[in-house]
Amino acid sequence: MSIALFDTESQLAPLRAEILSRMSAVVERGAFILGPEVEAFERELAAYLGARHAIGVANGTDAITIALRALGVAPGSEVVVPSFTFYASAEAIVNAGARPVFCDVDPETRNVTAQTVRAALTPRAAAIVAVDLFGVPAPIADLRALGLPVLEDAAQAAGARSGDRMAGTLGDVATFSFYPSKNLGCLGDGGAIVTDDDGVAQLARALRFHGSRDKATFEHVGYNSRLDELQAAVLRVLLPRLDEWSDGRRAAAAAYLDAGLAEHVTVPAVRDGDLPAWHLYAVCHPRADELLTALQAAGVQARAYYRRPLHRQPSMAPYVEGLAPLPATDHLAACNVALPMSPALSAGQAWEVVAAVAAFAATGSGTA
Ligand SMILES: Cc1ncc(COP(=O)(O)O)c(C=O)c1O
Repeated sequence: MSIALFDTESQLAPLRAEILSRMSAVVERGAFILGPEVEAFERELAAYLGARHAIGVANGTDAITIALRALGVAPGSEVVVPSFTFYASAEAIVNAGARPVFCDVDPETRNVTAQTVRAALTPRAAAIVAVDLFGVPAPIADLRALGLPVLEDAAQAAGARSGDRMAGTLGDVATFSFYPSKNLGCLGDGGAIVTDDDGVAQLARALRFHGSRDKATFEHVGYNSRLDELQAAVLRVLLPRLDEWSDGRRAAAAAYLDAGLAEHVTVPAVRDGDLPAWHLYAVCHPRADELLTALQAAGVQARAYYRRPLHRQPSMAPYVEGLAPLPATDHLAACNVALPMSPALSAGQAWEVVAAVAAFAATGSGTA
């Protein structure tokens, strides 16, 4: 038995011929940068999300940097960001010229809350980066009530919903990554910025092309950060399948619970009204590293995420002086174990994973 952590192969296999034919059409057309595929994908992504604007960029990291600048975050100002997230969420803040201020998360949802963000606010705060961690929407309406612009880092949450809104439309601006292992992943790097704000959209569009609107006058020092035509053509094949894939991920998460996973480890909490996209299904156990070894031996691929949270990364040392302790972050960093998750994960496989977790749990004591 071997159960993969991600299974992008079974997702792409039935679409291979269609993807190749759409890529071949791009090659025939000979337009590779900012052409009709990117334009059409931007329209289709905006329509899917229910947003006014989507702007394709080179990756999800640039998307955050550009979106922060488009929000008007000035050099030297502070941006609150969770420490328990992928490095890029904070790296992009530094690249925008601002200072990351790390905040804690809720130990059960693993996301920031109004309370954890408020504890990190100073008069220099110019924006909040709220990550929909592991595909679970952050409580962004609560954060907006704090009065600062909120950037929703939805890199892990394509296909998630909160109430009647899609993840990616909850903040003032949102960013996506289309890195291949993401829920909506292309065949290389790609990203997008999504917003209802015409001014933010116009500035983001200019910043992705060297700060120019007309390719002749350069009004800002920007970036060369474009989604390319080949990736946009691929994404146009994948986007119509995203809802079905997200349902598959939710079915896999439900199968884990049906199989009794919560009796052996701490499972993620979901707020009422949220439909997560389960990019990762991370559980917690006090003997997390031993659990990883046991799962590996049982043929179940599993992985720890963010064992060294961002406020403990060497590059972030200039930003952590005087930082209050982040106990939930340190706890989650130490105890998390991501179990296999993909739209193709069957109920039978979920039962096998839970059997391996249960066999391990029977060897010792306690859930995290
Ligand atoms: C939460 C989060 N933010 C940002 C990124 C950056 O995206 P990319 O790798 O496309 O630059 C990622 C993923 O890699 C991510 O998981």
